Amino acid sequence: MEFNQSLQNKNFLREIEYFEEIDSTNTYLKNSQNIDRKLVIADYQTAGRGRFNRKWISQKGENLTFSIGLEKFKINLLTKLNFFIPIILTKALETTLNIKADIKWPNDLLYSNKKFCGMLIENSIESNNLAKVIIGIGLNCNQTEFPDEISHRTTSLKLILNQFINREKLLASIIDLFADNWNAFLDNPNIFYHLYKMKCTSIGKEISLLHQDRIYRGLFLDVNENGELVLQTNDEILIFNSGEITTIKE
Ligand code: BTN
Repeated sequence: MEFNQSLQNKNFLREIEYFEEIDSTNTYLKNSQNIDRKLVIADYQTAGRGRFNRKWISQKGENLTFSIGLEKFKINLLTKLNFFIPIILTKALETTLNIKADIKWPNDLLYSNKKFCGMLIENSIESNNLAKVIIGIGLNCNQTEFPDEISHRTTSLKLILNQFINREKLLASIIDLFADNWNAFLDNPNIFYHLYKMKCTSIGKEISLLHQDRIYRGLFLDVNENGELVLQTNDEILIFNSGEITTIKE
């Protein structure tokens, strides 16, 4: 497997499992034991999941759909993963493909306002302060056609660069950066908070935010250290830990 050959840091992952087809790499890890530092890659998911119980549909053999499992992960660092993972991905894209992506709160990656990567980070509590975590990533690489409903706001690395993307090399670079930065993250997660804020381009803009069937409108003031969005509406400041934002063009 070309992925294995390209991988520099051979010590971080404990196990790699590859599926030509599976329901969902996240669901698979959810139902597995001993998932710490295990990478599951699929060429096709029959029931890929996105945030808000949406489907994540990705053409067979074109993209990267994978999940990383972690165990005994400190609960107080859970929200910080929302900084670490997108930063690792943007670094990998910058170093391997020279693409400078923006982060859309909480953790989508965009290029020219179009999404090409999404993350689904799930966790279950193991004990007092430890959790089992599944980090699922869907990254559009070589797919060039998307369903009508999303095509105007979706892109892929191939559409951005107009060139074929070597998925194995890109994944190896993501895992290497993940491994190389892991201890720095555990020791000092706020480094990644600051990097995240620099790439989170909608801070300071007028946005609308969909949260539990309600739409809020206001100025995107900040992302706080817990990863929550701070919104200044006409008469108050509201804090959101989830939702979907849209930048309002004026
Ligand atoms: C989102 O943007 O809504 C998150 C999408 C996450 C998709 C990935 S693909 C690999 C992993 N397995 C899943 O079922 N979902 C995640």
